[in-house]
Amino acid sequence: MTASEYKRRRRRLAAAMTPTSVALLPAAAESIRNRDVHYPYRQDSDLFYMTGFPEPDALAILAPGRKEGELVLFCRPHDAERELWEGERAGVEGAREIFGADEAYPIGKLDEAVPKLLENRDRVYYPAGADPELDRRLMEWVNIVKAKVRSGVRAPTEFIVLDRLLGEQRLVKSKAEIRVMRRAARISADAHRRVMRLCRPGMWEYQLEAEFVQACTSRGGRFQAYPPIVGSGANACVLHYVDNRHQLKDGDLVLIDAGCELEGYASDITRTFPVNGRFNAPQRELYALVLAAQKAAIAKAVPGNRWNDPHKAAVRTLTRGLVELGILAGGKKAIPKLIKEEKYKPYFMHRTGHWLGMDVHDVGDYKIGGRWRRLEPGMALTVEPGLYIPAVRTEVPEPYRNIGIRIEDDVLITSDGNEVLSSGVPKTVEDIESWMSGNTPVSNR
Ligand code: GLY
Ligand code: MN
Ligand code: MN
Repeated sequence: MTASEYKRRRRRLAAAMTPTSVALLPAAAESIRNRDVHYPYRQDSDLFYMTGFPEPDALAILAPGRKEGELVLFCRPHDAERELWEGERAGVEGAREIFGADEAYPIGKLDEAVPKLLENRDRVYYPAGADPELDRRLMEWVNIVKAKVRSGVRAPTEFIVLDRLLGEQRLVKSKAEIRVMRRAARISADAHRRVMRLCRPGMWEYQLEAEFVQACTSRGGRFQAYPPIVGSGANACVLHYVDNRHQLKDGDLVLIDAGCELEGYASDITRTFPVNGRFNAPQRELYALVLAAQKAAIAKAVPGNRWNDPHKAAVRTLTRGLVELGILAGGKKAIPKLIKEEKYKPYFMHRTGHWLGMDVHDVGDYKIGGRWRRLEPGMALTVEPGLYIPAVRTEVPEPYRNIGIRIEDDVLITSDGNEVLSSGVPKTVEDIESWMSGNTPVSNR
């Protein structure tokens, strides 16, 4: 992202804040995986969205209208010894020169500098409740200001959770964000295609995971947006299966839900395909049904429609199909009642999608004033219906059991409809079988 993109974002947030307010954006904490070893660091999405600053131990303060400059960044100062071990830091100079801070201070100066920044500000926006230590320190800083009220300074009296304001802003993606999300989805889509083609009976779930991660990493998608799910056979019925340690059996399906993160933006794609390259009859029937539901849902993901419309379309299609397959009892006439009573839920228990952006389950309200919100150009979401029939569902005819299917794409709402960012991974029965048989030439679009 360019410096002017970050500036634009800060200007928009400042405009949405009340006058005489201030916003606090803390860095994510580092977390320990085991003695002396940390998990790979991932910056807090809000701070990263506003500044692009990638380091831990930082706090950004946005103080609209402040004469000396609106953005103050606290961060780790240079330290030759530590930098020798851990790599270069931006330091306070870099915070100003690279990240556009108007002022920057070492993180150790918070107690000294923040109270001054809170003087004569009535409202503080911050991630209240997310970090007890920040809550505590903020109140300490406020009390320092309060102690000075007799000298004529005002102390803040209102404390507002920042999430809602920032969520609304992050929900509608800019042109620059869309470009990155397109690239993230493209890398993941190509990785899915590659894994689909490599899959053979006898391989292990973790081998498909390794191929997927390799395909993303080698193109710059160094981090996964979430741990890949590679579930074969009945494992595909476990929604958050991440063990990925079973052998792929001839005759089973395998579900892969995986997507890389690129420059802080997530992709999130699922494909389900036969381990041996050919669907059997019950697999084909269920797969065609999920695909029909996904297509119906994507067709409803257009501007002006409400958030819930794609879900409603998926539920309608799935319920009708389950009746036709004899999995749900009752004829055509029973369909509205079956939907109302949510009889599909034992087989489709999650929603049809979620917002997508810097966080894989991205920020932004789904309802406004109690009603599902309308879709607008620039919003990005996933469309991911599924059907899951584990062995315990003995009411379902035996051939349909031990099958889990989900089909998930990343969809951008555009002014005249939508753009499927993750297109390019085979999705119909015919395209999957043809691709897996090697009849379709491998191309790196
Ligand atoms: N991979 C997480 C999700 O599909 O929501
Ligand atoms: Mn998803
Ligand atoms: Mn997913």
